[in-house]
Amino acid sequence: MEQVGQLEQALPETMRAWRATRFGGVDDALSCESTPIPLLYGDEVLVEVQAAALNPVDLKTLQGRYPAVAQHDLPFTLGRDVAGVIVQGSQRAAGWEPGTRVCAFVGQGPGALADYVAVSASALANAPRAGTVDMAAAIPLAALTAWQGLFDYGKLERGERVLIHGASGGVGRFAVQFARHCGAHAIVTASASTHDALRALGAAETIDYRQEDFEDKTGEIDLVFDLVGGAVQARSWNVLKHGGMLVSTLDEPSQTEAAAHGVSATRYTARPDGAQLEHIVALVDQGAVKVEVVERYDFGAIHEAFERLERGHPHGKLVAMLERHEPV
Ligand SMILES: NC(=O)c1ccc[n+]([C@@H]2O[C@H](COP(=O)([O-])OP(=O)(O)OC[C@H]3O[C@@H](n4cnc5c(N)ncnc54)[C@H](OP(=O)(O)O)[C@@H]3O)[C@@H](O)[C@H]2O)c1
Repeated sequence: MEQVGQLEQALPETMRAWRATRFGGVDDALSCESTPIPLLYGDEVLVEVQAAALNPVDLKTLQGRYPAVAQHDLPFTLGRDVAGVIVQGSQRAAGWEPGTRVCAFVGQGPGALADYVAVSASALANAPRAGTVDMAAAIPLAALTAWQGLFDYGKLERGERVLIHGASGGVGRFAVQFARHCGAHAIVTASASTHDALRALGAAETIDYRQEDFEDKTGEIDLVFDLVGGAVQARSWNVLKHGGMLVSTLDEPSQTEAAAHGVSATRYTARPDGAQLEHIVALVDQGAVKVEVVERYDFGAIHEAFERLERGHPHGKLVAMLERHEPV
């Protein structure tokens, strides 16, 4: 592809990037390397990274447990969520000028855990007008996953009853707020320590999955949004009303079970979408959606963030902060 883009400011020739050099654990497979500044292709702009959120998929990718990433993709830079400033524009990215504060879900490949990342204009949104850069980084992947799961795939509508499994996590907290915003009745499963926070975000009913069987408590459900998979997904068929839907970010649901229960079911992979992200950022700016970062890590201490992901149950977003970030 033809390289595009005009250098707007003097950039260093190399940058730091947290890379998977092989598939494995945090100690043996993750390293900070010096790599060339990305070249720009197509409609890409260069973003100077100020903050980069971590997601469970980053750990799965490092460990070689993410099916879409194979041995021949190694080595690659990790990180799918970025907030920062455009430092190099492109004629094919009209309207995205150097100096603009942006956030984006960059998908697998470009790598946001670095000093700079090339981002397609189609994935970009303006960062929230108010709020800090860590908050901006915490939005894209998790919020787009929630939005696409509830609305693009789940077709959730006002007045419907949605059961959100795993609501205490990064995706779930956005899902609860989007469901409330659209006028749906959100019932959530999560550990008890998170119930007050989830009710404050808009959950109408909370179920402590460690103590209670959700099947006994939900009544008929229009949409199951499954962020847990496995046995939790398998037990969810019985709570769906006829014509309902199960949407999962994890396991491919059984079409045999779906047909037997008179429902539809799908698994999906979230995709970058700048227009959708812009809409979500507008909800954040209006105060309709809150973004909470639970832990921040220095860029040099990414190992600790990955170890936190390994321990699980983070109850919200983890964000790596680069030295250039604005004060939190
Ligand atoms: N397909 C895609 O494109 C896509 C996109 C984004 C995420 N994902 C996947 O979707 C899942 C959720 O993502 P995330 O970022 O929200 O993860 P996360 O932040 O780790 O949240 C998962 C939450 O589920 C809760 N949980 C664990 N077991 C549970 C159970 N049996 N019942 C109810 N809640 C339970 C955990 O805390 P507590 O148990 O303490 O409440 C945790 O807060 C991850 O596996 C991720 O890899 C897929």
